[in-house]
Amino acid sequence: MRIAMIGTGYVGLVSGACFSEFGIDVVCVDKDEVKISRLDRGEIPIFEPGLDDLVANNVRAGRLTFTTDLKSAVKDADAVFIAVGTPTRRGDGHADLSYVYGAAKEIAEAMDGYTVVVTKSTVPVGTGREVAKIIRETRPDADFDVCSNPEFLREGAAISDFMRPDRVVIGTESERAQEVMRAIYRPLYLIETPIVFTTLQTSELIKYAANTFLATKITFINEVADLCEQVGADVHDVARGIGLDGRIGRKFLHPGPGYGGSCFPKDTLALVKTAQDYKAPLRIIETVVDINDKRKKQMAEKIISACGGSVSGKTVAVLGLTFKPNTDDMRDSPSLDIVPALQAAGAKVKAYDPEGMREAREMLPDVEMCESAYDTMDGADAVSIVTEWNEFRALDLERAKKLMKQPVMVDLRNVYNPEDMRKAGFEYVCVGRGTTEAEAPK
Ligand code: UDX
Repeated sequence: MRIAMIGTGYVGLVSGACFSEFGIDVVCVDKDEVKISRLDRGEIPIFEPGLDDLVANNVRAGRLTFTTDLKSAVKDADAVFIAVGTPTRRGDGHADLSYVYGAAKEIAEAMDGYTVVVTKSTVPVGTGREVAKIIRETRPDADFDVCSNPEFLREGAAISDFMRPDRVVIGTESERAQEVMRAIYRPLYLIETPIVFTTLQTSELIKYAANTFLATKITFINEVADLCEQVGADVHDVARGIGLDGRIGRKFLHPGPGYGGSCFPKDTLALVKTAQDYKAPLRIIETVVDINDKRKKQMAEKIISACGGSVSGKTVAVLGLTFKPNTDDMRDSPSLDIVPALQAAGAKVKAYDPEGMREAREMLPDVEMCESAYDTMDGADAVSIVTEWNEFRALDLERAKKLMKQPVMVDLRNVYNPEDMRKAGFEYVCVGRGTTEAEAPK
């Protein structure tokens, strides 16, 4: 079995490395020569725990190679995975499929013998059919099937998500393609992973439905958190109290500054657009998108109000810039809304992130980037935890207090215990753990 993986971004690189760990020969293809030569030297362009070792081991074993030569990689492949980017298209919010369709054409030109072409990138419903059409038009003689196989990887936990997934979804109506996909995922049959076979369109929709459902769950608990603050309830107890109901489930009920990252914001928007196009609007998701956009900005207001209503001339320390811990990914991170809003309100912003500084420097101008959490808090009027990196969970609070102008903490990830923080002498603001007593309705 031989796989060609087109695109060595996050999904392509992780999937390629994991398939090679399954014992399959994998060639990862990218147009970017610099990236390929870096990968050849063993340099991993993204931060993902365990990925460097996984790549190194499989390269050493001769199962994983990198190339810019799509033609030769595709020619010898039994299955070709398309894992190129599908960014939000400027202007209309739809997914930009030009890279996917471009890849389909190139694959068609290079194909030799029966080949299964698999869309791994998150693609709108109907894309698989279009990919098949492009291939057929480019090479009327081609012997191929198109298959949809969405990934459900979480950044930071991608390798274990790939190796031990809750399920694998495969969309194809072709028996022959199913057989190839079964062979590829054979190691997962051994651990009894449910493999859901369905049609192309259904598989494409499953991916969007999963991500938008999760985004909805987060948005739900974020709004409940706001209500908790007003009525004096604790959102964590509410989450536990409802989450123990198996129909609801305990995961993804952690309140925060709003979801970010490379998937949820893009996928919620894309599904809203698709649903509108098909005249079957998803009004819940439309609202989720709207609430989440506003929420990120509202978090800056929360910090400003903790600073007494104004941050003009004040210094705010921001701990954590990436959209979540254990990644260097800044895409659609809440910090990209919060920091500029603080600056616009007249604050000087100092910041530190364990892995995201390189990207953040380009995306957040005029921020003083610091070497550590303590450097960041030095001279600050308030500190805000925006991403819950482990190293922010056990800060030396006495040291922080001495460094800061005033001990104000806005903990947007509820890392600390409010009671402990008050005892430590901090004015502590968090999310959804209200202190005021609600009055019964009159
Ligand atoms: C997500 C999906 O989980 C994954 O299945 C899909 O394939 C890609 O998108 P990822 O973007 O890596 O993965 O991050 P995830 O851990 O899901 O978190 C997304 C965002 O939601 C982050 O900003 C995170 O901070 C936020 N979040 C998550 C919450 O605010 N509360 C939660 O309870 C969970």
